[in-house]
Amino acid sequence: MPGTTVLAASQTGLAPNLADALGADLVTGNVRTFPDGESKVTLSGAPADRCIVVQSTHPPVDTNLLRALLLVSEAAGRAQSVVAVVPYMGYARQDREFLPGEVVTLKHVARLFAGAGADRLVTVDMHSMKGLEYFGDMGRNVSAVPDLATHFAGMDLTDPLAVSPDMGGRERARLFAESMGTGWLALEKERDRTTGEVSIRSDGADVTGRDVILVDDMISTGGSIVSAAGFLRGCGCGRVFAACTHALMVGDAAARLAGAGVEGVVAANTVPGPASVVDVSRAVAGAL
Ligand code: R5P
Repeated sequence: MPGTTVLAASQTGLAPNLADALGADLVTGNVRTFPDGESKVTLSGAPADRCIVVQSTHPPVDTNLLRALLLVSEAAGRAQSVVAVVPYMGYARQDREFLPGEVVTLKHVARLFAGAGADRLVTVDMHSMKGLEYFGDMGRNVSAVPDLATHFAGMDLTDPLAVSPDMGGRERARLFAESMGTGWLALEKERDRTTGEVSIRSDGADVTGRDVILVDDMISTGGSIVSAAGFLRGCGCGRVFAACTHALMVGDAAARLAGAGVEGVVAANTVPGPASVVDVSRAVAGAL
């Protein structure tokens, strides 16, 4: 795609693959952090007329959000058109007022991207389609689920079953199962919005002896997957794996998952990390 630049703070992961997939130049914004926490960005070149800014807003979320907005705003001052590719959209779980007085932060994040000069915004497996609505016509969601399913289809599994840890993710598990050619099931998870305590039950299929793949949009603390894995192991399932789009793996999430008997976590390359092995650059390129 001549006249197109991919601008990113990272020289690894999705951005270089996306530049390759598009036949575009890659310009990197080298980022330093000052002792007081400020970000200092230095560009390695000038963006072309069409600029695609790639920056996830993974932890530290506020810092990476500011960096994404900074790159978009800088690109908007130099290029004719700017597409913000935000592979992982932080704050996407704050998409509605759950308790009275809660600020719907995602609504304001959408305004910030538009105000910074993004003409369009592409993200991967946003937590909810309700959240995407705040971005209006400029927003587009891409799914990593088919690529994740292809990865698991290549593994030697016993009578695999895709399982969503909650009802909200049942469409994701259904799509995963359809792509992989397996069955699927959604657990019923309830989280107390005040205490955070989680309880799980299922009226679904018999999992005895079957290898299960827990399919979720993201793993943050690992709590949802740990609870679901414990429940399924209690039901006599076989091996337990997790497939997610965004492996944030906050704190000791990896150790908690291993302790819960999860044999492996496989995620898309939307955020940095050892689990982020499934490349979704072609799926993102298809939306540009
Ligand atoms: C919840 O609705 C989401 O889809 C994830 O299941 C959840 O946000 C993951 O967070 P954690 O890993 O902290 O349980």
